[in-house]
Amino acid sequence: MSNRLKVTPNDLSAFWMPFTANRQFKQAPRMFVSAKDMHYTTSDGRKVLDGTAGLWCVNAGHCRPKITEAIQQQAAELDYAPAFQMGHPIVFELANRLVDIAPKGMDHVFFTNSGSESVDTALKIARGYHRARGDASRTRFISRAKGYHGMGWGGLSVSGIFRHRRDFGPLLPEVDHLPHTHDPDT
Ligand SMILES: Cc1ncc(COP(=O)(O)O)c(C=O)c1O
Repeated sequence: MSNRLKVTPNDLSAFWMPFTANRQFKQAPRMFVSAKDMHYTTSDGRKVLDGTAGLWCVNAGHCRPKITEAIQQQAAELDYAPAFQMGHPIVFELANRLVDIAPKGMDHVFFTNSGSESVDTALKIARGYHRARGDASRTRFISRAKGYHGMGWGGLSVSGIFRHRRDFGPLLPEVDHLPHTHDPDT
C-alpha cells in the first residue's frame, strides 16, 4: 500500500466531510483505497459492491482501462483550455454528440461542474429567458416537496427537503412547492 493511502486518525481533522457525522466517522473511519469495475476495496482489504456507481458519477465502472487511458492521453495533450473567448475542438464535439442523443428541441449545451451548479444555472436561464422575451415579472419558481436540487443557493431555495434549507435562510423568495409524486393512495 502506498504512503498516500496510509491514513491514521490524526490525519482526519482538516477534511470537513459533506453529508457525514464527522465526529463519529473520524472515531471509526471507513476508508476505500482502490476500486475496480463495480467494487471498492477498503483499507482493511474488504471488497465492497458499489451499489451507487460512485454517487452516480462512475456509471461505466471504476478504473476501466479505456477510460483511464483516455483521461491520461487528454491530460498529456491539452489538460485545460479556457472557454471564455477561446475554445478547443473537443468541447464542441462533445456538445454536438450530446445534442444528437438529446430529445428533439434540446439543441444547445451549457457545461457545468456539478449538479448544484447545473441547478443554479438552470434557474438563472429560466429567469433570463423570460426577461429576454419581455416578461421580467415572471420570477416565481415551482418545485416539488421532497425534491433534491443540490446544495447551492439556488438549489437550496427550491429544495423540497426542509432539513437542508433550515439553517441557511433567507434563501431566494418566490418559490412554491407542489406535492411530491409518491402517493401510495392514488
Ligand atoms: C436532481 C439533482 N439536482 C442536483 C444535484 C446536486 O448535484 P451535485 O452533488 O453534483 O452538486 C443532484 C445530486 O444528486 C440531483 O440529483
